[in-house]
Order: sequence, then structure tokens, then C-alpha cells
Amino acid sequence: MTRPEQRAFELREQLERYAYAYYVLDAPEVPDAEYDRLFGELEAIEREHPELLAPDSPTQRVGGAPREGFVQVTHKVPMLSLGNAFTDEDIVAFDRRCRETLDVASVEYATEPKFDGLAISLHYENGYFVQGATRGDGFTGEDVTANLRTVGNIPLRLRGKDLPSVLEVRGEVLMLRRDFNALNERQLAAGEKLFVNPRNAAAGSLRQLDPRMTAKRPLRFFAYSLAQVDGVPMPATHSESLAMLATWGFSVTDLRAVVRGADGLLGYYREVGERRALLPFDIDGVVYKVNALAQQAELGFVSRAPRFAVAHKYPAQEEMTELLDIEVQVGRTGAITPVARLKPVFVGGVTVTNATLHNEDEVRRKDLRIGDTVIVRRAGDVIPEVVAPVLERRSADVRTFVMPTQCPVCGSHIVREEGEAVARCSGGLVCGAQRKAAIIHFAGRRMMDIDGLGERYIESLVDFGYVNRIADLYSLKLEDLLEMKRRADERDGITPETVQQGKIATKWAENIIDAISASKHPPLARLLFALGIRHVGESTGKTLADWLGSLEFVRRAPRAVFAVLPDIGGVVAESLYEFFIEPNNERVLDELVRAGVSASDEHAPSAKLAQRIALPELLASLGIAKLTATRAQQLAAQVKSLTALADLTPIERAALDLPAEVSTSLAEWLSHEQNIAQIKALDRYCATLLAAAPSQDSDAALPLTDKTFVLTGTLPTLSRDEATALIEAAGGKVSGSVSKKTHYVVAGAEAGSKLEKAQQLGITVLDEEGLRTLLTQGG
Ligand code: IVH
Repeated sequence: MTRPEQRAFELREQLERYAYAYYVLDAPEVPDAEYDRLFGELEAIEREHPELLAPDSPTQRVGGAPREGFVQVTHKVPMLSLGNAFTDEDIVAFDRRCRETLDVASVEYATEPKFDGLAISLHYENGYFVQGATRGDGFTGEDVTANLRTVGNIPLRLRGKDLPSVLEVRGEVLMLRRDFNALNERQLAAGEKLFVNPRNAAAGSLRQLDPRMTAKRPLRFFAYSLAQVDGVPMPATHSESLAMLATWGFSVTDLRAVVRGADGLLGYYREVGERRALLPFDIDGVVYKVNALAQQAELGFVSRAPRFAVAHKYPAQEEMTELLDIEVQVGRTGAITPVARLKPVFVGGVTVTNATLHNEDEVRRKDLRIGDTVIVRRAGDVIPEVVAPVLERRSADVRTFVMPTQCPVCGSHIVREEGEAVARCSGGLVCGAQRKAAIIHFAGRRMMDIDGLGERYIESLVDFGYVNRIADLYSLKLEDLLEMKRRADERDGITPETVQQGKIATKWAENIIDAISASKHPPLARLLFALGIRHVGESTGKTLADWLGSLEFVRRAPRAVFAVLPDIGGVVAESLYEFFIEPNNERVLDELVRAGVSASDEHAPSAKLAQRIALPELLASLGIAKLTATRAQQLAAQVKSLTALADLTPIERAALDLPAEVSTSLAEWLSHEQNIAQIKALDRYCATLLAAAPSQDSDAALPLTDKTFVLTGTLPTLSRDEATALIEAAGGKVSGSVSKKTHYVVAGAEAGSKLEKAQQLGITVLDEEGLRTLLTQGG
């Protein structure tokens, strides 16, 4: 075999296989652009070596074979295809050929989009839709009448009065982009396979053997030619025939036009090209047809295509390339996103090298492996997407993507919550990717409330390296802020300072330094909120502060303790636990404490804790399978303490009075060493916590129990909230107005009528100093 002969043979075999997958199985193996390329290569070989042209070459026929299951229909007028043109020169040559053959100075053309759907022929008799068929191989197609009846914009009966006795209309069935997206969302929700693109979705829908399935798929039909018409006068031009079709009730695109000469064609190509991304449906080119039907007849056909028409293609929206690697990226909020690294490929008008894969499940669902050949799609301005692997090209050495367990940016551990699609880095406070967002959150009004330090300056502090970790805020100096501001202004093109502006800047920096120092002692709830722990807002912060009292107890709490607190569910408990065990976060907290940050309202753990963390509740919150609340009580009655449970011998364990399945599950759980360690640690923590908490009946022993306070004026260091928290923590109450029942009025600067009233009623008035003494020594 000669080289060309060998290649032609290979190409034929390959094209046949692709065509079968595409037309018969509705499961294309390669993008159209690849098919077209191979097809073009074969055509070229056959042109140069006519002796190689075989009757069974794919270039000698129009499509694939009809699928079993549908009745075959013979097209009275064959459904041919169009020659493709890709360059301006191709179009100039097309126009020249038409002019020369017709022997005219210029030619008028009807122009239309080339719909990217599937060709359909509709047959009408006496105004009624009687049969519809797919194109099949161009001569014989499949009868899909029942399915086509479900397509909303196909007229079942023609409109108007002067109707043809016989009408054969050709056009394209397609799915609008928005309908396609909605369909895929439904498929996803139902766990069904996703469609690769609108055309495949349309093809799959139209070839359903059950028309009720088709009816659920939103298809559209656009008419683009009149194949046969009897009983009414034949129009003189293609554009008139489309207008006539519109009056009978067919959808005909508004994008059509009538132009003259190659310039007219190229102008149309550009205009539609610019609007391509915004069109409601996919197009893969435009089609030019000689407008006068008499001229069309004169030009006639070559083997598989008319000489009077041509398709002018746009750059492909789908291409093949190699998936070089899958890496992960960390977003500002810690979301870990797998990203495809691609061998650069030109698709949809741009070179694509990366594409987001969204999340781990998406990679699995698409069955993408590193090293695969993949189909990349970029339709219009849409972000490029890796659609699917080309399975037939998969080699044996492809690798499966494994989600890393550690953040590629900061090394903190990666957590994926149950039921969540997205995995996250747990090192929000240290992670370079999240640092800015974390510090902006930390400094926010409802968190540490560092007044005046806006987003722009926080970002600049990080960008210029003045702040790397949250605690660095507390060692910022005046000069640092001024220098940062100067560099940020310079970078953003803000004009150099005048002397006056210099003074303003210094004042600004002083204010920030003051604000940072004033922010050091927020209530514990807000300090916890400021840390940016997932699912932990101010109210969870308050629960933690109320019950556990101090940052230290919160930091050290085991998961089970979080879980027994009111309003803290499993997900939140897990998130808290994951946060505090991450060593990077531990370091940040230590740094903050060293920088002098502390909560203003720390107090002993709640006296009511003893009930919450009773043995049955703790046992139930360990997550042991089958150990329900009732069973946990039953178990608690027999083991007395967590440590006792951990220390049970297998024989003692077997002797416990529990239903068999609970025993088995408990034994299994206890057989893991880390679980034993976990309950021992839990026991130790609870003992320390309870020892620190006042016992419940000694509640009366709190220094300010039953004492009522009224606050008025501005205290030198404590805010209203902080003073209230301190009083409440000591058992006292804070009220808004002074009465005979008020025990103390705490007055600061600019105290008003409340102070007067207190003096009238002879109530003890305290300053901040006096309040602090009272708090430590009792009333
Ligand atoms: S005219 C004899 N007009 O392109 C020529 N075809 O490669 C008949 N197509 O199978 C085709 N939009 O599915 C024509 N405005 C348009 C078209 C169009 C899409 C498709 C059609 C046909 C293929 C030809």
C-alpha cells in the first residue's frame, strides 16, 4: 500500500466509526471540528488521487444509517448537505464561480445562520402535518412524526387561506441555550447523565422511542427551505419562499438577509459573528444561497452538495486537547476548586489553557483522568468548559484525580463537610489565599470593630507585607501605616501629598493605631465571630461565651462538648472542632493572646453546665452507631464515667445490659484506639470545666446575684456592652431606668438625668473603678 492509500484507508475507517457514534448512537466521540478536519483530509487525498476514491467512502454519502426502532422514510427530494468554507478567499471564489457559471456581473444571495441542530423534513397534505423524518443518510431517514408533533412551534395545521395541496419543508430542530441549561440542571438534580451540548440534547430528545419523553424536552423548529410545493405558485426566490413559510405559521429566523456579491456575504458573516455569543441558540456558521430559484437550478449540484449554496463556518466552539494535570486552587473563602491544566487549544476564538472543574464530584461525574484527551467547549463569552473525556483515546497510564488532604497554599488540612460539594481549607487565618478576606472580616464592625481600617488599606497592608497574620495588626506602627498609604496611593495613581494632606494622613494613621488598640478587648462572642470559623456567627459566639466563659475553654473543647450546647448542631460542632485542632489556627490564637488580645467579659463556665454535659448526653453525642438517647441513658447507668467506659475489659463490655446490636456497635467503636483517647480527653476536659464552674446551688454565691444596675454616661474604658456583660457574668442585672429597686448606678462622663434621679433616691453611685472593685469583691 502506498502512503496516501494507507492514510485514506485509515481515515475512512475512523470517519465511519465517528459517524456511527454520532448519527446512530447519539454519542459523538469527537468534536465536529475534528470530524471536519479528518473529512477534509480524506477529500483532499481523493481529489489528488482519484484512483483511490471508493464507492463506500464517507465522502460519497451524506450521513449515518437509520437506527433500528423507527420506520424508514424515503425522501422524495434528497436531503443533501452543504459544502464548507472557512476563509474569505473561499467565499470570494464561491461568488466568482456563481457569477461565471451564471454569466452575470453580480449575484444576489439569501443569507441565514447555520443552525447547530439536526435536519428535519416535514410533509403536509391539504394543510395538515402528516409526516416528519430525520435526514438519515440523505435519501432515507427515520419517521419521527409522533415526536415532532410534540415540538411546540411546528404547525400541525397550516395557517391562512391559499394552502398548498402538498408541502415539504426542511429545517432544523434545536434546543435553545436556556432550555438546554435548565434541562441539564434537572438531569443533575435527578442524578441522570448530562448532555454535552444543546445539539446532542436535541438529537437525543428527538430520537426517543417514546414520544412522551420528547414532549418533556423543549425543542424548537426553524424552517430554512422549501423542498416541494404543489397547488400554489412557486415563489421566484429563496427569500420569498421563507416569507411564504412564515405566513403559513413556521418559525423562520429574523437573522436572515438578502445581500449582493462577496462583500455582502462577508459583511453578513461579520455581523452575525459579532452577535453569535448572544444568540438564543448555537450556530456553527452562516449559509449563503443564491436567491433566485431559476439561478439555483442553473447552477445545479455536485455529488453531495448544491453548487448554489455554501456554509461559511465560524471558529469551532468545541475542540480536543490533552488534560495535562488537575491542580487545586484556593479561593478567598477557602473553597478548594480543582482546575484543569490543558495543552493550549484554540476554541471559540481564544486560546484556552485552564478550565475550572468546580468540585471533586464534577471530576468524578465527568470521569476525567489526568492524561486524557478531552473535549473543551467555549460557546460565546461563556467560560471554557471541559465537557468530557474522549474514551476511545484513553491510554493505560492515565491517572485518577485525588483531592489533596492539605491546602496547597498554607498546608492546613482540607475539610469537606457531609452533604457539601465543596472542600475547604481550614486555615482561613493563615492561608495566603484567604488572608485578605480573613483580615477584612476580623476587623469588621460586628467583629473586632477596628474603625477606619477599610478593605483597601487592609489589602494594601497585606500586599506590601506589613501584615501577614492577624496578630501583626497589633504591632503596626505609625510609620508603617503612613508608608503603606503612600505606596498604595502611588500604586493607584493618587497625586503626591501636599503639606496639608501630610497632616491629614498623620492624623488618619494615629486614629487607626488608636482604633486597633481600642479593639483589643471585645466581648468573647465577637472575638469568636471575628475568627471567621465556618458557620460561627455572633449568636453561636454568644452561646459559646455564655456556656464556656473563656477563650481557653472554647479552644480546648472536644467536639462532643460543642454538640451538647443549645443551638449548636452537628455541623457547627464539627466546624468548631476542625478549626481549633488545626495547628496553624492554634498558632494564630497564641499570637493574638501574646499581642494582648483578650475578651472583656470572660467568666467562669456556666453553672448550668453540669446538666448539659451529664454522662448520658455526652455518650449520645459521641456519634456511636445505634446508641440512641435512651440507650445512652441505659449505658450511663451502668458505667458511671467515660473513663470507666474506656477502661472496661472485653468481658465486662460483653456483660453490659444492652441490646445486641448496640453492644456490637459499641464494641466496634471502642476497638479503635483513637476513640479511647477521645473519650479520656473528653472526660478530663469535662472534669476541669465543671471544677471551674460554680456549682448550681452556689449560684447565690456569685458576687452580684440579684443586684440591679443602671448604666449612664460614658465610662473611661468599658463600653456599654462590656460593662453589661461583666455585671451579668457576676450574676447581676442591668436595667434601663432608675427606680427604688435599683441597687447601683454606674455613672461615667456626661451622665444625665439618671444620675440626678439616683442622687434623689439615695442610690449608691459608682464610677468604673468602683464597679471593678465590686465585681471582684462582691456587693
Ligand atoms: S440548507 C441543499 N440552511 O446544515 C442544502 N442547511 O450541511 C440544504 N443547516 O443538514 C441545507 N442551517 O442540517 C441549510 N440555514 C440553513 C441551515 C442548514 C443548518 C444544516 C442542515 C443540513 C446541513 C448541511
